[in-house]
Amino acid sequence: MSKKMHLMQMLIHSASTHTLLSWADPKDGQLNGLQDFSYWQNLAQTLERGCFDGVFFADSPATHAVYKSSVKPSVEYGASWPNHDPMPLVAIMAAATKHLGIGVTLSTTGTTPYLATRRISTLNYLSRGRVGWNIVSGFSAAEHQANGLGALGHDERYDQADEFMEICYRLWDCVPDAAILQDPVTGKFADPEQINVVDFQGKFLNCKAVGPTLPSPYGRPLLFQAGSSGRGLQFAMQHAEVIFAIQSHVAGMKKSMLQLSAASAAAAAQGKGNGNECKVLFGLQPIVRSTELEARQRAEELAERIPLDAILARLSGVFGVDLSQLDPDRPLAEMETQASRGLMAATVTGADGKAVTLRQAASTWALSVAIPQVIGTPEQVADEMERTWRETGCYGFNLSPTTNPDSVEDFVDQVVPILQARGVFRTEYEGDSFRDNLMA
Ligand SMILES: Cc1cc2nc3c(=O)[nH]c(=O)nc-3n(C[C@H](O)[C@H](O)[C@H](O)COP(=O)(O)O)c2cc1C
Repeated sequence: MSKKMHLMQMLIHSASTHTLLSWADPKDGQLNGLQDFSYWQNLAQTLERGCFDGVFFADSPATHAVYKSSVKPSVEYGASWPNHDPMPLVAIMAAATKHLGIGVTLSTTGTTPYLATRRISTLNYLSRGRVGWNIVSGFSAAEHQANGLGALGHDERYDQADEFMEICYRLWDCVPDAAILQDPVTGKFADPEQINVVDFQGKFLNCKAVGPTLPSPYGRPLLFQAGSSGRGLQFAMQHAEVIFAIQSHVAGMKKSMLQLSAASAAAAAQGKGNGNECKVLFGLQPIVRSTELEARQRAEELAERIPLDAILARLSGVFGVDLSQLDPDRPLAEMETQASRGLMAATVTGADGKAVTLRQAASTWALSVAIPQVIGTPEQVADEMERTWRETGCYGFNLSPTTNPDSVEDFVDQVVPILQARGVFRTEYEGDSFRDNLMA
């Protein structure tokens, strides 16, 4: 367990984050925010006021088309569409804050290692070390089709991602600090003799280049990962400094912590670990009101307007299985998939250890993609968060909003002060960079 709880805020640059049809709620401002830099900058400033470690931009770069073999249900309800790019928001949110870290998802099947390094490192340089990268291997068939790629198997994607990261490390490390001269007298900008030009030829990827950015005094961007299948965990242990995870109940979180420790020990024994201890942020979705009844009514109000088709359109994309073919009232089992094995495993078993039906799974995915909700008064929410943090030994939480920005403001104004008063959450930032704060 960490000394203090760490908190990040999940966001998606779309009409909603995880709560489907949140854009249709009268309280929500995100639809207008899609046309407004200041919406995102205000959100960033609210989070910084609440001393959050950072934002985490999840990203699905293309629209799921697995359910009923069509994009129609996704588009009809705004379920995984529109797919606006989070990168510009990283820049403007960093520009409006001083301490807040900003983690952003970029898929290793959606770009090249050179372009990824260039984009993320440029932002990390500009923000003085406040940018992190959630490395995903791109589970979505829609993303592969959008980029004109053929099918890549689940484990093969991770093998390719290992090569991708090897190239990124070389690009990050190829210009040592000492090579930078920037001497106005001689006119020499850098010493080429000290630069190791990358020349990588792998099974999947090639790269011949000088690292595109100046070496940052804050080092490499902070690396996150969220794959939780066997192969995904192996990848995480090799590359991630902090792991994002979703478990739909506390029993699952405890089990996941044990699996992660075992994977960490196995990686260390094979000399493949990155030497970091396992720092896990579990997803949680707070719904805060002045009474528990009002908070529960709010959750119901949000759920009522969500059609089953909207939920199954997203869930089918994540599972890589057309769920329209299944009886919604029969228990689910893990199915063979090339998409997200980790999210499927976290969804199909209830807290009692029994298989859930598709309809039950859909109800946990509607608002929060199976992320457990903490519903109640600010005191109750703080209690449950503290208990979960202590019981599971996790590093902290990655919070999923319902409607925005009000659910984030409610949390920052009403729950954060309680956590701070209890001494379990920071009252001021430890340092300047994302790593300084998240690793403290
Ligand atoms: C908290 C969390 C956030 C994730 N965010 C993204 C994301 O933004 N984009 C994405 O393509 N995959 C995302 N994923 C999926 C995983 O990164 C991973 O690609 C997927 O689970 C398949 O790997 P696995 O079979 O090893 O779990 C996320 C998973 C979790 C648990």
